[in-house]
Amino acid sequence: MRAGIIARYREHLALPAQEPIITLLEGDTPLIPVPSLARELGIPAELYVKWEGANPTGSFKDRGMTVAVTDAVMRGARAVLCASTGNTSASAAAYAARAGVPCYVLMPKGAVAKGKLAQTLMHGARVVEVEGNFDDALELVRQLSAQHGLAVVNSINPARLEGQKTAAFEICDALGDAPDFLALPVGNAGNITAYWMGFREYHALGKSSRLPRLLGFQSAGAAPIVEGRPIDRPETVATAIRIGRPASWKKAEAARDESGGLIDKVTDDEILAAYRLAARREGVFCEPASAASLAGVARLAREGFFRPGQRIVCVLTGHGLKDPDRATEESDDTVVLPARAEALAEVLLQ
Ligand code: F0G
Repeated sequence: MRAGIIARYREHLALPAQEPIITLLEGDTPLIPVPSLARELGIPAELYVKWEGANPTGSFKDRGMTVAVTDAVMRGARAVLCASTGNTSASAAAYAARAGVPCYVLMPKGAVAKGKLAQTLMHGARVVEVEGNFDDALELVRQLSAQHGLAVVNSINPARLEGQKTAAFEICDALGDAPDFLALPVGNAGNITAYWMGFREYHALGKSSRLPRLLGFQSAGAAPIVEGRPIDRPETVATAIRIGRPASWKKAEAARDESGGLIDKVTDDEILAAYRLAARREGVFCEPASAASLAGVARLAREGFFRPGQRIVCVLTGHGLKDPDRATEESDDTVVLPARAEALAEVLLQ
């Protein structure tokens, strides 16, 4: 039975033992072995995907949002507020609806995938499209919250990272230990920070015998950490990680360095190739940003980075249904036929 990450990992979370818990029974997502993908990509190691699209609103954000919104309600927040490329806002809007508090969202104008916008609006959030990018929207959120006492539920809120670190616990629990490598997309850099917290905590408690090396991947057109400078006009098909000034920049570098890992960039073409491959070879339909983790691992495999016997986990952060426009663009057209069996047989069975 799913219990939600607060009930499941309460002893590990910096959260006072108070009610009510605002939850949609998030977490407990599948860790799926993907041997066909490993073969196709020439990876000699064991490859798994942590399928975060299986969360209630279809992304990993729900792990952080249950803690952040529970915390906001405990503190008597008037409303929650976030800047978002779409997944944070979908999650914030859902948990705020459940808590009965208003949710205000600032989005980069015209740059959010349709499914995410639909979710955010359906849950009743008040959405403002800002004439700027995500980084501009987050800056406005910082200014607004300071002046009006709203609860910010972006990953600059430590409660978000507390919740998100539980994905690392689940991976260790499922494998019996930490993997050799954990690969994930990097945008605002909260998630890589949270995973590293989670792996370190489990290791310190003796619940795992080792620590993984973290492999973070940014989009080539939005790779401030890789380039070592802020990007003023980030561009990528992976709109979720179209971010030029990550809030947790320094923490992401620390996670990279302490784990002996790396943060690299992958091109939009590499991302889209991995996106299609996961859907077609393994039945796992993630969104483009999520596929950055697979694209990065594919690149490293080509360079002979991995060894047999190692275990690699790629985090697939969000569901492919969130971006239906990209999915249809990347797919073949449908065939239109008269409703006659002979015509069908001619086309399908030739
Ligand atoms: N993958 C997906 C699907 C995301 O939505 C995000 C971030 C990331 C990866 C990157 O995670 O920011 O912790 O490094 N989405 C945020 C949002 C920015 O507003 O939904 P990160």
